[in-house]
Amino acid sequence: MENGFAQGRLLIKDIGHLVGFAETPLERMAGWDMRSMPVLENAWLAVEDGRVVDGGAMADFPGIADWNGLEVLDAPGRCILPAWVDSHTHLVHAASREGEFVDRIRGLSYQEIAARGGGILNSARALREMPEDELYAVSLARMERLMRMGTGAIEIKSGYGLDLESELKMLRVARRLGALGRIPVKTTFLGCHAVPEGWSDAMSYTEYMVREVLPAVVAEGLADHVDIFCEEGYFGLEETRLLLEQAHLRGLPAKVHVNQFKASGGVALCVEQGAMSVDHLEVLRAEDVAELANSETLPVALPLCSLFLDLPFTPGRTLVDAGCALAIATDFNPGSAPSGNMHLAAALGCMRMGLEPMEAIAASTVNGAAALGLASEVGGLGVGQEASLIMTRPLRSVDEALYAFGDPLAERVLLRGHWLD
Ligand code: NIG
Ligand code: FE
Repeated sequence: MENGFAQGRLLIKDIGHLVGFAETPLERMAGWDMRSMPVLENAWLAVEDGRVVDGGAMADFPGIADWNGLEVLDAPGRCILPAWVDSHTHLVHAASREGEFVDRIRGLSYQEIAARGGGILNSARALREMPEDELYAVSLARMERLMRMGTGAIEIKSGYGLDLESELKMLRVARRLGALGRIPVKTTFLGCHAVPEGWSDAMSYTEYMVREVLPAVVAEGLADHVDIFCEEGYFGLEETRLLLEQAHLRGLPAKVHVNQFKASGGVALCVEQGAMSVDHLEVLRAEDVAELANSETLPVALPLCSLFLDLPFTPGRTLVDAGCALAIATDFNPGSAPSGNMHLAAALGCMRMGLEPMEAIAASTVNGAAALGLASEVGGLGVGQEASLIMTRPLRSVDEALYAFGDPLAERVLLRGHWLD
């Protein structure tokens, strides 16, 4: 597939609703602007060599001058949506943890399971044992499943290695997935995800990560960002500050797990440190919202985690009303969100976070791309952007795409100009 982009020309016409087309790439959308994602009724879209080159209303369709090598597709009644951008996943992991799922049904909490050596440490044991090629194979199968659901770009974190060798192994696997060129893959070094067995405290483990692992990750060019699980019982504000400062010196911006179970002042610290995003935010105070509204740091909600662990949902309505550029991602991981279904995540944005459908779509596409620094490439279908899109089954309106939340949405998926089977 070489550079990953399809060669050739494609015209999609008679589109019921075309979402996200513009003359230039869409930028991050903040506050009520999230409702103004462009929508054209009865429209056309032209693609060349895997990128959007033109589009508009059928009333202004110029006709086809050159039929040579052109694929033409009619999409009556369908919506064309930009492919989802999933800006927060732990897609590279060794194995599922359905045993803990059953333990929770029987009454244990996520934290109680972790305290017994389950949770992240359970995944770390399995990951350390798995050879790199096998880890790559199971991860690729997961990525392909996400692509079939219409995900056109992802972020992948490390954080189940928790030592030098295994963290590097995870990140190499993530880089190999990106090198396939199927979709853009951004990687995040999350060595400070949990304190593994054999360490007495979070600070001495963080110092080891900063001293030994971070430099190796950077030297091999394995990460685009750094992350830490800033949470009571995991890593505190001091560890977070140390890691973010050291990563910044080495050129890595931060995307941080914060306020999942407790509000700790982590949001203010991340804003002060210029983090790209703060993710989770199930527990958010008024002062945290104000900090975010006055910053470039994007809030990222992970509603599948709230659903699966029965946590509060991130107050999306409040964040958008305050003027934030909210993003939605899946958090796909074996412990707190064993699903990479962006359609369901976006629909939960409406059903549990108070977002209007167009806001939830903007959060799951354009703002997801912004949360990865990829807004010029993906997230919208502006001229020059990647031709990665979902063609829905026939729908009466764009709103119906999220209203019909449990049904398969995509009739066909195009990624970088390639139709998936
Ligand atoms: O984002 N909260 C921290 N990390 C993951 C869960 C990791 C796990 O349980 O394996 C999350 O929810
Ligand atoms: Fe996560």
